[in-house]
Amino acid sequence: MPLTFLRESLRDFKTTGAVAPSSPFLARAMAHCLPPARELPGDLRVLEVGPGTGAFTRALAQRMNGRGRLDLYEISPNFVEHLKEKIARQKGFASMRERIRVIRGDVRELPAKPVYDRIVSGLPLNNFTPGEVQGFLEHFRALLKPDGTLAYFEYLAIRELQTPFRRKQERERLRGIRDVVQAFQKRYQVKARVVPLNVPPAVVRYLKFDA
Ligand SMILES: C[S@@+](CC[C@H](N)C(=O)[O-])C[C@H]1O[C@@H](n2cnc3c(N)ncnc32)[C@H](O)[C@@H]1O
Repeated sequence: MPLTFLRESLRDFKTTGAVAPSSPFLARAMAHCLPPARELPGDLRVLEVGPGTGAFTRALAQRMNGRGRLDLYEISPNFVEHLKEKIARQKGFASMRERIRVIRGDVRELPAKPVYDRIVSGLPLNNFTPGEVQGFLEHFRALLKPDGTLAYFEYLAIRELQTPFRRKQERERLRGIRDVVQAFQKRYQVKARVVPLNVPPAVVRYLKFDA
């Protein structure tokens, strides 16, 4: 499975944004935006964006444990095939198998209607332009119900570490992304959780847009 990821990362690093899947610790922190299974409403709708090889999907499936519905939106056809097979085969997905949909495509193509209670995003925000990052976050806001929550992660301090070593244009791009995400965090972040046990260490941010 790390090989599937590495292969995809060599094929398209802009969208993949990492060379290995996220750790189970980061996955659990992402899934923490859902209520525990015993309190989870039967009609809860969850969207996972960029599931890759399913690191977060497994943690979400465990947490949902036969309740609610989980849509996976993935741009890479190779990851889509990999996920479909894994979900059909592995025991960890058994309770959610009939409740998971794997959809191939760019999440920006999803009609902007407020249908989801939770969005869990694995997108590599640092690989896009500031305008694209703004577009993704606005789109997530439009897809969430009024009381919904977005969970996304960033690698700790990577943007800051990278900035001095990059060319001017690249530095400006990274600063632009920082400004966009900081504006959203300032306005909508309700909680953040640092996850040191990931390569590289990460921070999970939870945003509520009615806040
Ligand atoms: C950093 S990887 C995260 C994979 C996995 N969630 C993990 O943490 O191991 C980013 C994922 O986002 C997907 N992706 C990138 N842009 C996307 C888009 N516009 N719509 C849907 N998926 C996208 C990539 O194909 C990749 O699977």
